[in-house]
Amino acid sequence: MIRDVKIRAALDEDAKAIHVLTRDAFAPMSFADENDQHLPARLQADGDLTLSLVAVTDKIIGHVAFSPVTIANARGDWYALGPISVLAAHQRQGIGTLLAKTGLAQLRDIGAAGCVLTGNPDVYGPMGFSNDHALTYGGLNPRFISYLTLSGSIPKGEITFAPALQENHT
Ligand SMILES: CC(C)(COP(=O)(O)OP(=O)(O)OC[C@H]1O[C@@H](n2cnc3c(N)ncnc32)[C@H](O)[C@@H]1OP(=O)(O)O)[C@@H](O)C(=O)NCCC(=O)NCCS
Repeated sequence: MIRDVKIRAALDEDAKAIHVLTRDAFAPMSFADENDQHLPARLQADGDLTLSLVAVTDKIIGHVAFSPVTIANARGDWYALGPISVLAAHQRQGIGTLLAKTGLAQLRDIGAAGCVLTGNPDVYGPMGFSNDHALTYGGLNPRFISYLTLSGSIPKGEITFAPALQENHT
């Protein structure tokens, strides 16, 4: 684990650094598209950025966004994790996990039922997310849909993401 990394709420003046970080972290990924780097700003512009956290050493090296979702058959307030980005030079050092867990603790504090995401289950399983194929999102293979329950019950049904993310996944 990298030492002296702090997680804090993103500030307005962090927007450029978050954009560059998201662009550079996603660029090598086979599933990435040009839209990914704009997602944090689009979520914010739409009023859908429930939480925006940065990991900071002497500069910003990681970021995670959380936004509201609806799930057809779930009760309570659910949120999506993403996008999440850590600079390549700092990956696999626990920073993504620290960002996710800090955000999840803050969601718990505001009474969230839980959190869902789409992505590689190998990354999110170790962060505490489960995958039992009960959630759906269009034609996406349910293997790539994960959830973590905070105070609600296990969610089932179709997910509707915030519009910025919905555009990205369909
Ligand atoms: C995904 C991402 C945010 C994870 O951040 P990170 O700081 O590297 O994650 P952590 O160090 O906390 O990793 C936690 C665990 O997740 C798993 N993991 C992380 N990255 C992985 C990868 N690329 N492939 C497989 N497993 C991975 C590992 O089990 C890891 O634990 P380990 O290193 O002890 O084996 C980061 O790799 C990233 O920015 N990737 C590019 C952008 C991206 O893909 N974002 C997510 C889109 S769905």
